[in-house]
Amino acid sequence: MPKQEIKLYYNNVMANVIGDEHGITKKQWADLKKKVQPLIPKIMEEIIGHESPPKKTRTVYGLLPTKKKIAKDVRKLVDGIDDPDDPDYPKEGLKKGCENLVVFGIGGSALGNIALQTALNPYMYNMDENQREDKDKQTRPRLFVFDNVDPAQLKSFLNWLGGGLNKTVFNVISKSGKTSETAAQFMIIRDMLINKLSKTDYQKRVVATTDADKKKSILRKIAKTDELQTLEVPDDVGGRFSVLSAVGLFSAAMCGIDIDFLLEGARDMNTRISEDFDKNPAAINAAINYHFYTHGKPISVMMPYSYALKDMADWYRQLWAESLGKVKFSAGNEVHIGPTPVKALGVTDQHSQVQLYREGPNDKLFTFLQVNNFEKDIKIGPAPDGAEELGFLAGKNLSALLNDEKKATEYALLTDKRPCLTVLFDRVNAYTIGQFIYLYEVTTSFVGALFGINPYDQPAVELGKEATFALMGKTGDYEDGYTYEQFAGDIQIKTNVDKDFLV
Ligand code: PA5
Repeated sequence: MPKQEIKLYYNNVMANVIGDEHGITKKQWADLKKKVQPLIPKIMEEIIGHESPPKKTRTVYGLLPTKKKIAKDVRKLVDGIDDPDDPDYPKEGLKKGCENLVVFGIGGSALGNIALQTALNPYMYNMDENQREDKDKQTRPRLFVFDNVDPAQLKSFLNWLGGGLNKTVFNVISKSGKTSETAAQFMIIRDMLINKLSKTDYQKRVVATTDADKKKSILRKIAKTDELQTLEVPDDVGGRFSVLSAVGLFSAAMCGIDIDFLLEGARDMNTRISEDFDKNPAAINAAINYHFYTHGKPISVMMPYSYALKDMADWYRQLWAESLGKVKFSAGNEVHIGPTPVKALGVTDQHSQVQLYREGPNDKLFTFLQVNNFEKDIKIGPAPDGAEELGFLAGKNLSALLNDEKKATEYALLTDKRPCLTVLFDRVNAYTIGQFIYLYEVTTSFVGALFGINPYDQPAVELGKEATFALMGKTGDYEDGYTYEQFAGDIQIKTNVDKDFLV
């Protein structure tokens, strides 16, 4: 398969295009370069974690694309064991006879899986068996990712699944192993599998992806007791940076995505992001994002002009928000930091959002994702008689319309002095997606460093998780001497509906 590099096009954020008031001037660019260049070796150290002496167990997200064992463990579960020296030889892989793969997870344990599937498998993958056939004429499983606990949604799925339970594999993903939503989904399916099928079927049909340490993850502990098949979320990798670990790779490999090509793309991007500023797409992307955030444009819109890339914008939204939305203390003051990521889709949102983007406040940086060559194309038919004014469309490719609309929107935004970046994909494949994921992960690390915050934690999410435990009846100590019961009472006081304010 061809190995094209994705490129970041950044001329349209510059003052010579959109003017001095809104664009980056030469002087500002030189200052940004001075600020970001010294961060390059620091970020490399942070994400690759060269330590002296190296700790074997340490896996920061930058090491994921090079850790061969991760993909090997995934493949072993997916395809089975074909190594005669392996004591379990010839164990069958989970793909065999599997018609449905269900992922239970949330946030970083789901968004990457969804994004990979939308990007790299056809639109009708789940519905059309022919589109699920691999090159050996084997049918891959449908994929369903449940990242919510809406009972009506899950019930509808389970009703559809019916007797298909024994042809379904469930991948329960939770790094911490204690997230209520995923735990609840797991407990529902565990009960169903054991009672409707058998304990052995339950063991055969569930893969738990979680932290390796059973002291940290209750899911790991259960998996050990119940003798489930497991995969590992590496210790030093946070959820939203984990798509290139077993978290994202298992469902991708089950559904026929070339995970080696994906990881190769990430590795090749890793070489580019260690280059000096002028050649470094992550450093330049971060510098531009940082500049606009600190110059009155705190909103960052990602707008793919490709349905395949639609959920990459969703994945980016979490990466950006959870990593960069932080409070820091500076000179005794609380400083609240965080660019607001917005996802949009071209051309759909031209007819929904662009009015605001052009005439509303000039407070946004736009990043378009553009694809030069689509997997498939369609020619537009001739104009009907009497509708000659539609003749300009006749015989053109739909991809030409889509990409011309991107240009048209970009032009319109530039006319109103709105800064625009474009990430250019020659085509969408596992290799370019691997590059894109890695580019944005590293960009996030750079922006975190520029803001002086820690992009790898999410303390504000943790509070909501703990509050849910309290409301759902967890007992015992929450914090020294303050119990979950007391905590639940305090939450109720603040959140119970006061009828005086109901209209
Ligand atoms: O990025 C993160 O750390 C979060 O979004 C988590 O992925 C999310 O909260 C789910 O956590 P867990 O995988 O521990 O269930």
